Amino acid sequence: MDGNGRWAQKQGLPRISGHEVGVQRIQGVLETLGPKGVKFVTLYAFSTENWGRPQDEVDGIMDIFSEAVASQTQALHEKNVRIVHVGKTENLGTDLSKAVSGAQSLTANNTGITLNVAFDYGGRAEILEAVRRIIRDGVDPDSIDEDLFSRYLFTAHSPDPDLIIRTGGELRISNFLLWQSAYSEYYHTPTLWPDLDSEELLQVLDTFANRRRRYGGLNPEDESSDSQTSQE
Ligand code: IPE
Ligand code: MG
Repeated sequence: MDGNGRWAQKQGLPRISGHEVGVQRIQGVLETLGPKGVKFVTLYAFSTENWGRPQDEVDGIMDIFSEAVASQTQALHEKNVRIVHVGKTENLGTDLSKAVSGAQSLTANNTGITLNVAFDYGGRAEILEAVRRIIRDGVDPDSIDEDLFSRYLFTAHSPDPDLIIRTGGELRISNFLLWQSAYSEYYHTPTLWPDLDSEELLQVLDTFANRRRRYGGLNPEDESSDSQTSQE
C-alpha cells in the first residue's frame, strides 16, 4: 500500500493523513475484487523495516491500525471476509495484538475473501522464523520439501500469490513474500495507493488475465512448432 505519505503531501496534509485515507480504501478494494472471484488478498501494511521511520509516524500508524481493527472488523465480518494477520505479533503491544487475534477468531470461519494483513511483516524474517520452527519441531531434513516449508510460513493457509500489485511507482520487492512470489506476476503503477480506484484495479485484472505464465517452461505452441530447439 505504497504512496500514502506522498498522497498526503500532495494535498498539503501531514503524512499520517495519507495512512488514514489509505486504510479507508481497503473495503472498496475488496468490493471490487470479490465479485471478480478473487479469494485471497494480502495487504502489505507495515514492514519489519518500517519501525525505522520517525517515532511519531510509527506511533501514528499503530494508532490508525488499532482504530481500523476496532472499526472495520464487524463490517468485514458481515461481508464474510476472513481476516488473518501475517507477521510478527511480539512487537505490536498487548492491546493491539489482542484486538488482532480477536478479529482473527471472529472471522476464522468466514468463507469469502481471505484478507491477509501483513503487519510487522518481512520476507526474510519470515523465512528465518520458519527455519527455527522446523528445527524446533525436529523435522527430518530429508522430508523438507517446498510444500512442507510453505506450511511453516505465516501464509501457510494461503496459496502463493498469482499477482502482486505495487503502487507508488517503486520497482522493487521490498522484502514482500520473498518465498511465495517465486512465480507471481508483477504489476507496478505510479498510482499512489489512496488513488488506486476500482477502474484501475479492473484494468489490472484484465492485464493479468492476458499474461501467459510458463513457470520456467515453454508455451505449448512453441514446443510443437520448434520441437528440436525445445529438446535442447
Ligand atoms: C506506505 O506508504 C505505507 C507504509 C509503509 C506504512 P508510504 O508511507 O511508504 O508512502 P510514501 O512512499 O512515503 O508516499
Ligand atoms: Mg513508500
